[in-house]
Amino acid sequence: MQVRTVAVIGAGTMGSGIAQICAQSGWDTRLFDVFPESLEKGMNNINSFWNKGIEKGKTSIEDKELWSKNLNDYNDLSEAVKGVDLVIEAIPEILELKKELFIQLEKIAPKHAILATNTSSIPVSIIANVTKCPDRVIGMHFFNPVPIMKLLELVKHEKCSEETIENAQSIGEIMGKETILVKDVPGFATSRLGVVLGNEAIRMLAEGVATASDIDKAMKLGYKHPMGPLELSDLVGLDVRRDILNGLADSFEDNSYRPHRLLDSLVAEGSLGKKTNKGIYDWTENGKKERNDLPE
Ligand code: CAA
Repeated sequence: MQVRTVAVIGAGTMGSGIAQICAQSGWDTRLFDVFPESLEKGMNNINSFWNKGIEKGKTSIEDKELWSKNLNDYNDLSEAVKGVDLVIEAIPEILELKKELFIQLEKIAPKHAILATNTSSIPVSIIANVTKCPDRVIGMHFFNPVPIMKLLELVKHEKCSEETIENAQSIGEIMGKETILVKDVPGFATSRLGVVLGNEAIRMLAEGVATASDIDKAMKLGYKHPMGPLELSDLVGLDVRRDILNGLADSFEDNSYRPHRLLDSLVAEGSLGKKTNKGIYDWTENGKKERNDLPE
């Protein structure tokens, strides 16, 4: 299957990053969001990434012009998916919202189109099974920052066809990603390992084992992780991590996955990480600062 046109649904951090690499892959890319301000922010983020790329000497002005022509914003879902070969959903991790969207997509997207979800924790089969075409539904899980991270985790549920998997693998290759194929188990391969490490680091912080920056330093220098687990939790979003942990605890019926109470308290006070300027760290000024007002 040759991809020419793609719709990305949801213009948040992940959706705009995904739309960016679709446009860079030479595809006619439609970025859709119900909220005009999210759409505007998503388009601005892409534009500023490209401008920074020019400043860094990584992107040519000609490339930026070409990519910009490939990218358009949409506020009408039916228009956005008209004639597309691929739809990638990147809306919030709320099951009912995703189900509703996929029921709609099945009706309005072309019959040959792959319907992919970027869910990081919801079983793909639950989403696929609300449609009458589960064979065309697949998990395409991207990583933040999408334009830089090399991995694309493909999630195969029972009714996903071999053709859809092969197409998703070649789509990933054209995007410049390395793909892995993972069974449709809660948290797949990446989220399950990632959130457990982050939750343990938060537990250690609450127990006073070390400061946040020393816990991060431990993994950066001792294990060569590019970022520590606490700063990474702030980058991903503490609400996102909390929801994944609760999802794992429910699916495996194992409370050891439950978010530590410090994580719950941070989310409850609205400290969601970098996106709200406050999380485990304070990000209000340039760079991050250790907090001395963490909740109980
Ligand atoms: N245009 C073009 N290239 C750019 C660019 C731009 N605007 N900005 C950065 N780059 C390039 C840089 O030039 C550099 O390229 P080289 O490797 O060729 O030198 C590369 O991108 C890395 O950029 P930086 O040097 O600026 O960044 P860094 O080295 O400080 O790394 C990081 C930043 C990539 C975020 C790194 O810290 C990292 O890998 N952190 C971990 C991130 C992670 O784990 N993400 C996964 C989160 S989990 C998730 O997302 C899943 C989920 O479901 C929630």
